[in-house]
Amino acid sequence: MAKKISVSKTTKISGNISTKDMRAEDVSTEDIGALDTCRLETYFPTLIYVNKLHNADQLNAQLLADIRAEQQKDQKGIQRSNFTNLGGWHSHNNLHKEKRFAEMANRIRAAAAKISDDCDYDPKYQLDIGTMWSIINSPGSFNRSHIHPGCLWSGVYYVQAPENSGQIEFTEPRTQHLMDQAKFNPNKKRPKQCWTKVRFKPEPGKLIIFPSWLYHSVEPNFANEEGEGASDRIIISFNLSQYKK
Ligand SMILES: [Fe+2]
Repeated sequence: MAKKISVSKTTKISGNISTKDMRAEDVSTEDIGALDTCRLETYFPTLIYVNKLHNADQLNAQLLADIRAEQQKDQKGIQRSNFTNLGGWHSHNNLHKEKRFAEMANRIRAAAAKISDDCDYDPKYQLDIGTMWSIINSPGSFNRSHIHPGCLWSGVYYVQAPENSGQIEFTEPRTQHLMDQAKFNPNKKRPKQCWTKVRFKPEPGKLIIFPSWLYHSVEPNFANEEGEGASDRIIISFNLSQYKK
């Protein structure tokens, strides 16, 4: 017959007393849980790959010259819905087909190959660039929240990113999750798995690759650097799809 005992809230439960022996009103949930096991499993994660390219200074100096040359050639650029009246310059979408952007394209392909491997994609297909373009955001310009339809992965590479030139922000893709919010301990940093947004600081040489369906926006550029064009945030962006090898 089970022995009847009472356990105070501060009493730790030892291994030879089962929860059946306790009166529920006398036992804290912490005490009851002490005998249970729990394994946290993670499903449906949102993968964001953050790469730092080697020899970025050399690569960026060349890219900067090539992007400025492209801007000179095509001053109007192309219009995109998240750009209209927001102050940015957007190149055409086929920079990866131009010889002078070949090195950048190959660096992106190298990062894409790692993702393909990491996700165990079919090796008969190559995760490759479908479109690649450049954006120049001068001070005051920004990008509205948007996604990139028609591809698997999208990315941004920072060629020039002065201080305060605007962080990229990704928002919680599971919108149902935003219907209600738990109250978190105000004295602690919220656990990463409970965040509903994440921002990345732009840094020259940083290459971020994210699912194309993940909503993202870019804060206004508040940089204030000396010299013409020095406050511009300049990026290469691209979309990736799988192509039969
Ligand atoms: Fe985007």
